[in-house]
Amino acid sequence: MTLSPTQTAVDLDEPASLLLRSATRDVHERAESTGFVQNLMGGHLDVRAFAALAAQHTAIYAALEAAGDRIRENPVGAGLVFDELRRGDALAADLTALTGMIGPDHREPIAVLPETLLYVDRLDQIGDDVVAYLAHAYTRYLGDLSGGQVIKRMMQRHYGLTEDGLAFYTFERIEKIPPFKERYRAAMDALPLTVADRERLVDEARLAFDLNVAVFGGLGRLHPAGDRAAE
Ligand code: HEM
Repeated sequence: MTLSPTQTAVDLDEPASLLLRSATRDVHERAESTGFVQNLMGGHLDVRAFAALAAQHTAIYAALEAAGDRIRENPVGAGLVFDELRRGDALAADLTALTGMIGPDHREPIAVLPETLLYVDRLDQIGDDVVAYLAHAYTRYLGDLSGGQVIKRMMQRHYGLTEDGLAFYTFERIEKIPPFKERYRAAMDALPLTVADRERLVDEARLAFDLNVAVFGGLGRLHPAGDRAAE
């Protein structure tokens, strides 16, 4: 995959949290405005499409959290791995709940997309590289703690979901999200990073966004708008 060219000037002296935010602003916008995300958020899809997203998340978070388990063993990276963020159990519960909501005629097995396998492949390559882990963990977890909360409300509004099927977006072990995000940012900013590390951090985070955009592209092909299943 070719990396999206950076469109914003990046100040490598900034703390990692600010650096990542400014260096991924344009790719964040692209991720937010993909057809699949827009259609899902606009209520033009159905629970099947949302279940398909949860199935991709299941594969992605298994790989991300396996990387987290390795990084936890590294004294430099240990402070970046938070048990309260782990999503594996929540995703398993969501997939069961969502599959149960899909009418039996539409309950075909949910495929893990080739784009997701590519993403998982990249996550598997993290090994014990703290910089690469941070780029991927930031992209997913801070996103889930931010836009994820908006997604949760939209899924409730448009698809009649309550809490069942939305455990992924509910961080039961985090009492208040804003101070937790600040703790997460402080942990990022405490890492000793060279200029070369910072450059790699930015490139890997932008790649992480691109990999997410590719997954949305695959989901969009399987779930175009207007394909709403009668449930
Ligand atoms: C429906 C789609 C999305 C919406 C509505 C959305 C919305 C938001 C909002 C409002 C924030 C700012 C929160 C704050 O300032 O504290 C945010 C932050 C963030 N989002 Fe998204 N987002 C979406 C999709 C995504 C996707 C697909 C990703 C990546 C996979 C992502 C990754 C992030 C990250 C990493 C942050 C943290 C930025 C920072 O403070 O450093 N978002 N999002």
